[in-house]
Amino acid sequence: MSPKSEKRGPSYNQLEAGTKKADPIQHQHAPEIQPYGKIAKLPIALDEKTCATSAENLNQLLADTMTLRDMYKKHHWQVAGHTFYQLHLLFDKHHDEQDELVDEIAERIQLLGGVSLAMAADVAETTMIPRLPRGREPVPVQISRLLEAHELILKEARTMARLASEAGDDGTNDLLVSDVIRTNELQVWFLAEHVVDVPVVRADQKAAAGD
Ligand SMILES: [Fe+2]
Repeated sequence: MSPKSEKRGPSYNQLEAGTKKADPIQHQHAPEIQPYGKIAKLPIALDEKTCATSAENLNQLLADTMTLRDMYKKHHWQVAGHTFYQLHLLFDKHHDEQDELVDEIAERIQLLGGVSLAMAADVAETTMIPRLPRGREPVPVQISRLLEAHELILKEARTMARLASEAGDDGTNDLLVSDVIRTNELQVWFLAEHVVDVPVVRADQKAAAGD
């Protein structure tokens, strides 16, 4: 090789090889690294059985919380009537708070060594909240459905909190009590006050009728 040819740039073959190296490698497949329902034990000073039980319970709660979160977005979009503006905003606020709970529950499952449910089809198969119609429903029905979903979640969260406490899983107990239960209770209050049948203009309807 002459000194002149050494100064030339890379050959066509070298360029082609370089380009191939930078190409994204697509359509790859491999077996799962951890099947759903199995525990990959982390050193968190909890035995595997406790982790497995908490992860299983939290996956049920996760499916129900994801469903409630999505109910809020559905109602945020589909709400109608003279309370449209305030409910449109309230439903979105509650949606965002439920979305934070979803992330906290899912990440708790992972740190316990479990596998979090994630996809809509798996959530639909797992949740205990009854399926909603696709169409729009009036506000009192929207709120009734939300209140029933909240109560289902509160009931299961309290049972799971007690079981976690008895098993020594204080982190799961704390998540359930401090975040899940307290957030759901507060949201129930804000919703329930919208379906209290109080007069809007005249406090005494009978007296008004006799005027
Ligand atoms: Fe929006």
